[in-house]
Amino acid sequence: MAQELLQKSIAAGEARGFWYGGDHLYEILIQPIDFEGASSKTTIGLLVVGHEIDSAVAKSFGELAASEVAFSWARIIVSSTLAPEQQQELSRQVAALPATAPDAPQEIQLGSERYLVTTVSLSSGTRPGASLSVLRSFDKATLFLTQLNRILLGLGFLAIAVGTLLGFVLSATFTRPLGNLVAGVRALEGGNYSFPLQNSGQDEVAVVTGAFGRMRDSLQKVQLEQRELEARLRQAHKMEAVGRLAGGVAHDFNNLLTIIRGHADMLTDRVTADEGSERNLEQIQKATGRAVSMTRQLLAFSRMQVLQPRILDLNSVVVEMGKMLPRLIGEHIEYSFEPDPELANIKADPSQVEQVLLNLAVNARDAMPNGGKLTVKASNVQMEVSAVARRPSSISDTGHGMDPETKAHIFEPFFTTKEVGKGTGLGLATVYGIVKQSGGFIWVESSPGTGATFEIYFPQARGPAYVMEKVSGSKAVPLGSETVLVVEDESGVRDLACQFLRSGGYTVLEAVDGVDALEISTRYSGTIHLLLSDMVMPRMGGAELTQRIRAARPATKVVLMSGYAEYSEANSGKESPQVPTIQKPFSLTSLAEKVREVLTEKPAKEAGQRR
Ligand SMILES: Nc1ncnc2c1ncn2[C@@H]1O[C@H](COP(=O)(O)OP(=O)(O)OP(=O)(O)O)[C@@H](O)[C@H]1O
Ligand SMILES: [Mg+2]
Repeated sequence: MAQELLQKSIAAGEARGFWYGGDHLYEILIQPIDFEGASSKTTIGLLVVGHEIDSAVAKSFGELAASEVAFSWARIIVSSTLAPEQQQELSRQVAALPATAPDAPQEIQLGSERYLVTTVSLSSGTRPGASLSVLRSFDKATLFLTQLNRILLGLGFLAIAVGTLLGFVLSATFTRPLGNLVAGVRALEGGNYSFPLQNSGQDEVAVVTGAFGRMRDSLQKVQLEQRELEARLRQAHKMEAVGRLAGGVAHDFNNLLTIIRGHADMLTDRVTADEGSERNLEQIQKATGRAVSMTRQLLAFSRMQVLQPRILDLNSVVVEMGKMLPRLIGEHIEYSFEPDPELANIKADPSQVEQVLLNLAVNARDAMPNGGKLTVKASNVQMEVSAVARRPSSISDTGHGMDPETKAHIFEPFFTTKEVGKGTGLGLATVYGIVKQSGGFIWVESSPGTGATFEIYFPQARGPAYVMEKVSGSKAVPLGSETVLVVEDESGVRDLACQFLRSGGYTVLEAVDGVDALEISTRYSGTIHLLLSDMVMPRMGGAELTQRIRAARPATKVVLMSGYAEYSEANSGKESPQVPTIQKPFSLTSLAEKVREVLTEKPAKEAGQRR
């Protein structure tokens, strides 16, 4: 059979092709074997090489094409990857096709499966030969598409999940903290400083939130400080206004009280027999005394007192006071003083410093009806611009303390929480005025149940401390015979002083103001031993008059009467004229003593006593 097939191939002139025989299909290659002589070439035989297209070849092809394949010879299927029944079905359907069926793909049904079949002819020429059919299964393709769909669907879900996760991460990292920060900024705009800021993590938003939080805190601190400063400023303005009002009233009262007191004193000297009148006079004097002391306190509060500042060692002032304090505050209160050996001297009026300590001690006593501790401390303080630094001189008690409402008003005159008749509310007003007029300031720390601490700051002063003299007891009213020029614009006070001095044996010249006094001095040919002049008068005041009189009559001594220190004088830092002063409202005894003291002073001693 092989020879027959070879004969056909040689006849057809094929070098390569397919042989079919005995249900087998072969692919063959024919190679002539030539003998080459010197001049010609002779074919001596033919070499035929081939291989069978069997089911193994079909399988390899099928795998290569990822499809079912079938090799056929003139419409007879020789080898295939299809199942045997599918092969038979395919043979039937292929046999039914027209002989000149095109190579175009065709749909066929093999059993339960549908295929797309593409058949290619492997042999050249028109006679029936080998062909290869490639069958792509629709079901497999659909299965593949379904799988592809599933994969795509899975990928879609994955993308959504990753997106959601990413969104959550982004929200947790940026959006939510940023939203919180924006809400914090809005809250701050509305004045809310306590909006909770979430500040976790290390990223930029956390850093910005942290910086915003710190900025908000410092803003709040500055605002609180500003509010406190404003409150203090308002308080200071209020105290200033109340001080001016109180001072104005007290000044006018001073003159009236001087007159009442003087005339009552003179009446007392005259009325002796009538017991009833004596009691009346006594009551007038007592009431006047109380009015005088209140006026003094008001003047002290208004910083209009005539101060006689000295360089003081505060330690020894407190030690001196401490001798009488226990008697004043009672044995149920334990008193202690913690001096500072390094304490710098201060400049203040000693009697006023005593007044401050006394008022504070009395208040402390009243705050501790069941006993407690009163502690006075003295220490140096280095002041910074606005800060209340370390411990100044202070007076602390362990009494009932004060609520904020009380604390806000204690320095105002006539503010008291004590029963009617127990307190006038002038104690701390006086303290406030004295401390302020001395260039210092006062601060209180107290809350209900924790006692109170009054901190007082006095400015430091250089120089040796003044040694306080002890005042001797009452003496008889001294008399005299010298000539005194009395200058006072208030006629009531002038009349009183003149009348009293004349009754004491003095020769008295009267003037209504400085200009009038100068005229009298020029006209008067005798000696004028003493000028007793008011400080503040229209046309020419006491200070200028003193200068003019001293120029004209150097031997004339001077005593100035004063109800208050002018604000301008107190504030300019200019001290009152270097002359002895008597403070209104004075008692006639103190006037007589002052006049006598100045008249008998020796010039050398005078110079020594004045600063
Ligand atoms: N150490 C203190 N402890 C508690 N409260 C005090 C203390 N010191 C003063 N206060 C309160 O301040 C108020 C005013 O005190 P201030 O000394 O000005 O007047 P006063 O003591 O009431 O009367 P006055 O001193 O004129 O007799 C007192 O009524 C009291 O309520
Ligand atoms: Mg008091």
